[in-house]
Amino acid sequence: MSAVDIAPSILSADFGNMRNEIKRLERGGADRVHIDVMDGHFVPNITFGQELIRSVRDATGLHFETHLMIEKPERYIKQFAEAGSDTLIVHYEAIKSASKVLESIRGLGKEAGIAVNPETPMDGVLGCMKHADMLLVMGVHPGFGGQKFMPVALRKIQQGREHAKADFRIGVDGGINLETGLMAMRAGANELIAGSAIFNSDNLTKAIRDFKRLR
Ligand code: DX5
Ligand code: ZN
Repeated sequence: MSAVDIAPSILSADFGNMRNEIKRLERGGADRVHIDVMDGHFVPNITFGQELIRSVRDATGLHFETHLMIEKPERYIKQFAEAGSDTLIVHYEAIKSASKVLESIRGLGKEAGIAVNPETPMDGVLGCMKHADMLLVMGVHPGFGGQKFMPVALRKIQQGREHAKADFRIGVDGGINLETGLMAMRAGANELIAGSAIFNSDNLTKAIRDFKRLR
């Protein structure tokens, strides 16, 4: 069994061919699909909304984790849940009462994730982790693929791991390649999210396999 789950981010996929891109991930051995939703406010970039998720949902049985980089995500969690997300990840920086929003995601029958940006202190995040099924530590300032990994994320992963049970899901997102992925795993991450390292590689299946062999 692999030590780590791989969740390719479709931010780096071909948007005009999304159903096939997701099937390619499934054939290539991905564990989950990481879906980056951006609103042009919480982050300076815009991607897509719940209708994209709905239209690709039946292309795969893979777990969909939807990373909501949007302001006031509580306004939209029901729509993103109904569209077919399995996990909904909200940013600590985007919500007033993290525990309330996380519990309302669980109330919809979905897994709840809490994401934390590089500059955000961990105290409050650790405090709400008992209401979450996943912690997502950002390795970059969210908004764009292809950025350089910020080592401050490693300390955050460690703090999360010290606070959580051994099998609690801690993902790291942004700037992940084989080198930074291994560092993140050693710090305590058990899920690697990667966009450009997977979609910009010559061989997507090999790229996923190489990640899964890290230990
Ligand atoms: C960044 C997104 C990431 C992004 C990662 O805002 O949340 O999921 O797609 O892309 P890479 O792996 O290229 O850094
Ligand atoms: Zn993401």
